[in-house]
Amino acid sequence: MKKLSKKSYKLPKSCDGVERTGEEWLYSPKVKDHFFNPRNILRPEEEKKYKADGVGYVGSPACGDVMKVLIQVDPKKDTITDCRWQTFGCGSAIASTSMMSQIVKGMKLDKALKLTPNDIIDALGGLPARKIHCSVLGDKALRQAINDYFRKSGQLARVEVGNYRVLDKVLKITDRDIEEAVLEGADTLEKVQAKTKVGTGDPGSLPEVEKLVSFYVQKYYG
Ligand code: FES
Repeated sequence: MKKLSKKSYKLPKSCDGVERTGEEWLYSPKVKDHFFNPRNILRPEEEKKYKADGVGYVGSPACGDVMKVLIQVDPKKDTITDCRWQTFGCGSAIASTSMMSQIVKGMKLDKALKLTPNDIIDALGGLPARKIHCSVLGDKALRQAINDYFRKSGQLARVEVGNYRVLDKVLKITDRDIEEAVLEGADTLEKVQAKTKVGTGDPGSLPEVEKLVSFYVQKYYG
């Protein structure tokens, strides 16, 4: 069989006139490092022995991928002592969660709850716009894991509704929930409603929600 030369599999010129070789990376060196050498993965064979104090599990409606985050907590110091994870997500999800798992080790729980996808993206040196939703998965699963720890340890008053502005006062949906919905690909009010059910209990919140959806769509995809 004829061996393909490097020249023969060059991709056609794109609309910007630049010849794509397929060897280029759109990702920062840190993203590549964390993708090829992910930190703190929990391998299936380790899972039974791992004693998690809190577990968070989320799926991404934007792409169908899933993320599981497990934490161990020092109750005296109220800090995360270990953060491990598993995912069926893409390279960006792997890099984002790997970075996140490093950032939160040793972090106070209250501080970890305030971590945002943007903090993780900044630490990675950026992500392509179309991959931003991938960074939401780990962040969201982490907050679920922390809330799971609060519930298991009887600290119900600490279960997060956040320092965020509550928009739907019945369902307690915050501006942060709207931002996450947009980051996960809901780019219209209708899609955000379908995802969050915002307005179901408090229809008066919808004009404000619509403004926020436009703001975040412009911010992340504009
Ligand atoms: S495309 Fe699904 S996590 Fe990135």
